[in-house]
Amino acid sequence: MMRRLTMMDVQGADEKFPGDWIGVFAPGTVGNLGPGFDVLGLALNGIGDEIRVRRTSERVVRIAAVSGVDSPLPTDPLRNTASIAARYVLDTFSTGNSGLEMVIHKGLPISSGLGGSAASACGGALAAAEAMGLALDKRQLIEAALQGEVAVAGRHVDNIAPCIYGGITMVHDAETLDIISLPVPESLRIVIAMPPEKLNTREARAILKREIDLPTAVMQWAHMGALISALYEKKLTRLRDATVDLVAEPLRMPLLTYGRELKTAALEAGAYGSSISGAGPAIFAFADVDNASIVRKAMEDVFHRRGVSGKVYIFEVDTRGTRRIT
Ligand code: HSE
Repeated sequence: MMRRLTMMDVQGADEKFPGDWIGVFAPGTVGNLGPGFDVLGLALNGIGDEIRVRRTSERVVRIAAVSGVDSPLPTDPLRNTASIAARYVLDTFSTGNSGLEMVIHKGLPISSGLGGSAASACGGALAAAEAMGLALDKRQLIEAALQGEVAVAGRHVDNIAPCIYGGITMVHDAETLDIISLPVPESLRIVIAMPPEKLNTREARAILKREIDLPTAVMQWAHMGALISALYEKKLTRLRDATVDLVAEPLRMPLLTYGRELKTAALEAGAYGSSISGAGPAIFAFADVDNASIVRKAMEDVFHRRGVSGKVYIFEVDTRGTRRIT
């Protein structure tokens, strides 16, 4: 019988993962991007989850260890998005009798608004496919990852789509999983402020209204059109007036201790729009290569003034999406 890995093994060097382990990286993501609730999203360069798997002879998916998280995550394979997605790959696309052992390294804090559940799900899906020798296409990987996302956070594809594709994406149809990749202006930077609080996505979805009035809907889709147009025209200044969310942000902002202040600070520092990242509590701001550090400083100052240990980072857009790393 194979020895099960411990946390010590996972935190060790790469030699802990000899040849039969397959490693996958899945980037963090920003969902909604202001007006595109459940539709728009982008992938962040340099932050994400790593999933490693190896084939086993028993047809089960077992999580050997989870590391890197700031609060305990379930190792029960029925409750973790990575293993749920991997299990779906096995059940749906693989005919053999093999199973998987899985080790998860979370680079994304959970319940932070950076697509942590989606990243684990996408990583789990690709890692399982690679281990089983299955050449799944992006739609099939999204289908598998969605099983994990639905189980923990509710059905939405706006984090999974950019996580799999990389870049900036639009979910044209969440049923057929028709995804459109949007242009990424080269100078675009994403400034992310991460406050020291958590917000459960399922709860943040539950507070939203089921219906919106027509004038609000008209403004919302006008803003979304303007945002997409700004990306095509590479006019970052236009993003500023387009990054407006009249649907989710007004209901969610009151749940966030630092949200309004962070957004105001970013806009006053010249950001090209700011809103809640996904369901929050992270706040994102669009900037360009020249003003991103000024925006970051303004958001950091909010945390300093409040005497809390929030962090602010500048990211480029990740254009590669979920990928094999070993
Ligand atoms: N579109 C989702 C929401 C993103 O706002 O609930 C969650 O990360």
